[in-house]
Amino acid sequence: MVDGAMATLRSSMASPTKPTVKKGSRHASSMESIVLFGPPGAGKGTQAQRIMDSTGLPQVSTGDMLRAAVSAGTNTGIAAKKYMDAGKLVPDEIIIALIEDRILEEDAVNGVMFDGFPRTIPQAEALSNITKVSHVIAIEVPDDRIVDRICGRFTCGKCSSVYHDTFNPTQTDGVCDKCDSTELKRRADDNADTVMSRLGAYHEQTSPLALWYESKGIFHRIDGDRAIDEITKDILLSLN
Ligand code: AP5
Repeated sequence: MVDGAMATLRSSMASPTKPTVKKGSRHASSMESIVLFGPPGAGKGTQAQRIMDSTGLPQVSTGDMLRAAVSAGTNTGIAAKKYMDAGKLVPDEIIIALIEDRILEEDAVNGVMFDGFPRTIPQAEALSNITKVSHVIAIEVPDDRIVDRICGRFTCGKCSSVYHDTFNPTQTDGVCDKCDSTELKRRADDNADTVMSRLGAYHEQTSPLALWYESKGIFHRIDGDRAIDEITKDILLSLN
């Protein structure tokens, strides 16, 4: 295991499958995974939570894994924090080590739904040696919508549901719709300055991956500048 924070995060992830593989053994040959791709604030996390039941695949968010490592003060977290605070990508070797480890967990036996990974060509190349990717779902949102989305975001600290002050508020102020927790929080990197760096990193380092996946015939473009339900419907159609 890369570090202890991952254990905490993984244990909180619901597993839709019965554990059949012991940690430490590779099971890449039986796996088919999905990648959710798009700029910061595109709605990857929002959609991942909505399509988990239909796909039966657990959500694997490198952003969530890194934030857990930062909170736990692990070596991975300490190394990653300065990049995250600056809105830059965390070095590939850290990210690839996290994924190589995560994919060995029991709930990943039938594949996973990657949220925010891969973000560079080296990450995509490493992924192709780890698991087969059946679909890459690109949620496309214009840059001028992104700042509003990110600066109004808040999440439930207990079940990780994602909300927005204006676009997707909770039904009762201060209470999570899904689990009734009042532990709602905002991310340290959700501010206008960091968003611009994150968008810059996306355009320079991540968007070239679209061509890479398009050439493999598994890339689906989804208009993400619409109602959340409409986007979910189109993603599910793309996956069928
Ligand atoms: P990460 O946590 O992955 O952040 P991100 O990619 O910037 O994506 P977000 O989580 O901000 O957005 P999202 O697309 O999930 O949108 P959401 O559904 O929340 O990464 C954070 C940092 O970690 C990175 O900057 C980097 O430093 C590091 N990192 C992570 N992975 C890495 C990797 N692979 N390599 C290197 N470094 C890595 O929605 C956003 C808001 O919009 C919410 O409030 C939501 O309610 C609202 N919303 C959603 N859909 C709609 C809609 N259709 N209409 C209106 N509002 C909507």
